Amino acid sequence: ARVVVLISGTGSNMAALLDAAADHLYGAEVVAVGSDRDAPGLALAERAGVATFTVRFADHPDRARWDAALSERIAAFSPDLVVSAGFMRLLGPAVLDRHTVINTHPALLPAFPGTHAVRDALAYGVRITGATVHFVDSGVDTGPVIDQVAVPVLPGDDAASLHERIKTVERRMLVDVVGRLAREGWTVEDRHVRLGSVEP
Ligand code: GRF
Repeated sequence: ARVVVLISGTGSNMAALLDAAADHLYGAEVVAVGSDRDAPGLALAERAGVATFTVRFADHPDRARWDAALSERIAAFSPDLVVSAGFMRLLGPAVLDRHTVINTHPALLPAFPGTHAVRDALAYGVRITGATVHFVDSGVDTGPVIDQVAVPVLPGDDAASLHERIKTVERRMLVDVVGRLAREGWTVEDRHVRLGSVEP
């Protein structure tokens, strides 16, 4: 399966996917990494020999045209799957109607959606949070859940320490999910995701 990864930041989730994809048995190949800004992770992808592109929000007159431009750039790589891994902008209909997109989120959805999930979980005082991989729909972190993993909040945690603990398990889960989607296919029925749509 051909995978395009979208990032806005360091791209450690993307890097984990690149590592996994080095094994051809993994079933997914990262064909491009895209961003909405000069994300530090782009250099990492370039060093790994992967095509990169940037579609800046400010270079477009409005959200719809930015979304359409992004969709075109993605489509040029004919992906079977788009992985949003720390991509910090909402995707619009031009992208979502044309591509299957999954996202990784650093909380146990539907708790703490949005950009400040780790900070919000910490401020709320939960003892357990985690990470969720889900299909992306038009809402904010509302699409069907594919997988989740729980992570404890420990005494003395700040947002940085908690986020690091989450990201360690988040990366493993994302790698596992992308590989399984690629190798086994999937079906979604009434929000319920089943991996392995390919009947034996
Ligand atoms: C991840 O925790 C992701 O869920 C969140 O931002 C982080 C991205 O980290 N939205 P990285 O850029 O993959 O290192």
